[in-house]
Amino acid sequence: ERPDALPRDLEGRRVVVSAGGTREPLDPVRFLGNRSSGRQGYALARVAAQRGAHVTLVAASTAELADPAAVQVVRVGTAEQMRVAMHDAAADADIVVMSAAVADFRPATLVVSKIKKTGAEPDPLRLATNADILVELVAARRPGQVVVGFAAETGDESGDALHHGRAKLRRKGCDLLVVNAVGDGKAFEVADNAGWLLAADGTETELASGSKALLASRVWDAAAALLKPASG
Ligand code: CTP
Ligand code: CA
Repeated sequence: ERPDALPRDLEGRRVVVSAGGTREPLDPVRFLGNRSSGRQGYALARVAAQRGAHVTLVAASTAELADPAAVQVVRVGTAEQMRVAMHDAAADADIVVMSAAVADFRPATLVVSKIKKTGAEPDPLRLATNADILVELVAARRPGQVVVGFAAETGDESGDALHHGRAKLRRKGCDLLVVNAVGDGKAFEVADNAGWLLAADGTETELASGSKALLASRVWDAAAALLKPASG
C-alpha cells in the first residue's frame, strides 16, 4: 500500500513493536538463537509510523534490515533485555505488539570463557526457562491498552494450527493474536504470511496470503478498532 493511501488513524498514539529473534549466550562466542528475520515486526513498525503513530521498535537479532523511517529503534540481545525494554516502552503505550521470536529457554549458566574441546564427551546443555514477556505485558497492561501477540503454529495429532492458536490466545490473555500457519516453508524467511487474526471477544478473521506490509495493515486496523477514542 502506498503510504499516502494509508489512514492517519494512529496519529498521536504511542505504539511499541518487538521484532527479531533473541539470542541467549552460552559462552563469549556462542548463543542459542532462532531463524526469525524480523521482517514482520519491521513492517508493523513502518506501517504504524506511516499511519501517524509514535513508534518504538524493540529489535533483537534480525536479517540486515534498514531502520524504518521515523521509528525509535531500541536494540536488544537476550530475552531478558527485551523484557526490560518492552516493559519500559509499554508503560506509556496505547498498543503493544509482540512479534519477536523470544527464545523460550536460555543456557542455565553463562560460561565466562570459551568452552574448549577436551577430548572427552561434552557436558549436556542445561537450560532455564525465560519469562513470558507477552503474559507479563498483559498482566501489567494499563487501562485501555491493546496488547497483540503472534503465534506460528503447525498442526499436530492434538489439533490444527487454528486450534493451537485459539488455545494460545486464551493462555496469553492478549486482545489479539495473529496466528501464522507454518510448516512447508511458510512464514519463516519468506516474504508472505497467511493465517488468522483471533480476538479475545471470539472474532476470527482469516488473513489471506499477502505481503508483510499488508498483514501489518490488518493488524493495525484491528488494534485501532479496539482503542478508546483519544482524549484531548
Ligand atoms: N512470547 C513472549 N515471551 C516468551 C515467549 C513468547 O513474549 N518468552 C510471545 C511471542 O513474542 C509471541 C507469543 O508470545 O507474541 C507467542 O509465542 P509462542 O512462541 O508462539 O508461544 P509460547 O507460549 O512460547 O508457546 P510454544 O510452546 O508454542 O512456543
Ligand atoms: Ca515459544
